[in-house]
Amino acid sequence: MHLERLGATHLEAVAEVERLGQTHPWTRDTLARALDDAMLEVWGAWRAQTLLGFAVLARLPFEVELQALTVRPEARRQGVGHDLLRHLVTRAEALAAERLLLEVREGNAPALALYRQLGFREDGRRPGYYPPADASAGKRETAVLMSYPLAEGAST
Ligand SMILES: CC(C)(COP(=O)(O)OP(=O)(O)OC[C@H]1O[C@@H](n2cnc3c(N)ncnc32)[C@H](O)[C@@H]1OP(=O)(O)O)[C@@H](O)C(=O)NCCC(=O)NCCS
Repeated sequence: MHLERLGATHLEAVAEVERLGQTHPWTRDTLARALDDAMLEVWGAWRAQTLLGFAVLARLPFEVELQALTVRPEARRQGVGHDLLRHLVTRAEALAAERLLLEVREGNAPALALYRQLGFREDGRRPGYYPPADASAGKRETAVLMSYPLAEGAST
């Protein structure tokens, strides 16, 4: 597996992974804008010619934010998400960001387990933040706000 920064030429591959891997996929237009946005970094994990997963990092003035992370279903539990996120932590350090932030549905057990395993901490919760996971039923879902404290290690 190797990691690579993705650009507009990778739209087809990214859109396929997103369609297969997300219950609420970003639209093709949103993905195209992300791949073209100078404030965002889209990183992909490849095995040979197959895009296994990708992550979108937003560069904010003092912090960076994970905006998306999707792994192809058949490539899960092989360390792809872990390697992408570790790489984003390295990028955040290189950008001298104070924290790496993210939001995740409280019902998303695989993602929560991954973030906790990597050392992300819970900062708070926003009840009713997300539309229902199943659009036809259920109520709005709580967001868990998490961060990875990059500057803390440097100052202690
Ligand atoms: C969440 C997601 C990105 C994880 O990717 P992944 O490549 O399967 O994760 P990894 O193989 O790197 O897992 C690393 C660790 O995370 C935890 N983990 C990952 N998936 C898990 C699951 N289904 N159940 C429990 N723990 C899980 C485990 O601790 C795992 O380590 P282990 O396999 O040694 O036990 C993937 O399931 C996915 O794309 N889900 C749909 C999209 C999504 O929810 N994205 C995140 C929020 S936007």
